[in-house]
Amino acid sequence: MSEIDIDELRKNFGRRLRIGFIGGGRDSVIGGTHLAAMRVDGFFELYAGVFSVDPTVSEATARAEFLDADRVYESFNEMAEKEALREDGIEVVLIAAPPHIHFEAAKVFLTKGIDVICEKPIAVSREQASQLDDLAQQQSRLFCLTHCYAGYPMVREARAMVRSGQLGKIRILEAELAAGDPGVSFEPKNPADRHWRFRENIMGKGAILGEVASHAHHLLHYIYGEEISAVSAEMSTFVPRREVYDNAYLTTRYHSGARGRIWGSYIAAGNDHGLCFRIYGELGGLQWHQEDPEVLWFKPIGGQAQRIARGYQNLSPWATRGSRFRPGHPEGYALAFANLYADFGCAVMARQLGLPYEQFYKALPNTSDGVVTMSLIEAAVESNCNDGRWQAVLSASSADSK
Ligand SMILES: NC(=O)c1ccc[n+]([C@@H]2O[C@H](COP(=O)([O-])OP(=O)(O)OC[C@H]3O[C@@H](n4cnc5c(N)ncnc54)[C@H](O)[C@@H]3O)[C@@H](O)[C@H]2O)c1
Repeated sequence: MSEIDIDELRKNFGRRLRIGFIGGGRDSVIGGTHLAAMRVDGFFELYAGVFSVDPTVSEATARAEFLDADRVYESFNEMAEKEALREDGIEVVLIAAPPHIHFEAAKVFLTKGIDVICEKPIAVSREQASQLDDLAQQQSRLFCLTHCYAGYPMVREARAMVRSGQLGKIRILEAELAAGDPGVSFEPKNPADRHWRFRENIMGKGAILGEVASHAHHLLHYIYGEEISAVSAEMSTFVPRREVYDNAYLTTRYHSGARGRIWGSYIAAGNDHGLCFRIYGELGGLQWHQEDPEVLWFKPIGGQAQRIARGYQNLSPWATRGSRFRPGHPEGYALAFANLYADFGCAVMARQLGLPYEQFYKALPNTSDGVVTMSLIEAAVESNCNDGRWQAVLSASSADSK
């Protein structure tokens, strides 16, 4: 199948895709990143939204984006109903509200025939993730789960290297997102001020797995592609007055025979973001740190460590395509995020034009990634309840995971 030229695709489509937001208001952490990322390559234009549970924040966000007042809604149900009836209705929705909203919101928009971009974790249970996976297929909708670190060129390079066998058979996979930001290291004195991330009744006691460990897990899954067969978990709570776990150690076994560890933490004092991975095969190891994202280190057995940097010509096609600037001009988080929007935008445009869209869609995190992560999370919660006993992780494709 010949590659579709992106300039031709854009020209034939003739306009930007119409997108609406759920959450992502001015009061949110992640909304500004999505606004910036979706605009980098110009595939999307914001038309509608219910940006916040607080109407004044929602309206202020909409005003700052010059939206028409009749495209600002009170609920995502209202937005789905009304936008689906408009000729110029949104074609894509971003769900950037907290995780317990994701399932209902995604269901409504998929059912209305609207493609979905959804923040992680995809939902709050494996059952919900599986239902969304089924629904997206039944409705022939496209779905991008914004595990944004998959957009980094050097993460894509790691994937190409591991999958082409440059490390030989993979033995060990470790990743961590160990944050130590003061906002997550202390609990407010007044429980009413507690953020949803730290409320057991909203997210469950193991919320850290979806909020933090899911990114570390997804990185390994994205690069390696093999599923985890079993997990042993130990989760703990260190911060006084906290009602959910704030540290999670997961030891993992893969079907392939590889072994691994995932560390998710809110209490790694002194760390900023704290995301990294180390992958070791028979022939060498790879290391990458999100806070130095332009560089991937390859350490072959018995050889010099090789510094592989973004922007050079000898990189894999997928890494090259995700790179915009010359070497030495750092790109970073927002542009990695933008790569998901670019690929998803191309996929949606190609599909609407009746063209093959797989070349854009195939490496994007989607509902299937969501099912894989939720399967791990549920097994880890079970293991933790049983003092770290090994717990089987259901395969995403197995009938019993549905
Ligand atoms: N990919 C990443 O790097 C990354 C980083 C941060 C957060 N996240 C994810 O993004 C999501 C949001 O996180 P956040 O940190 O921005 O949360 P936040 O609490 O800062 O913001 C959530 C926003 O959603 C709004 N909201 C809540 N319920 C809503 C509803 N029913 N309809 C419309 N709006 C609603 C809130 O009012 C708020 O504006 C979570 O799933 C989180 O895990 C991802």
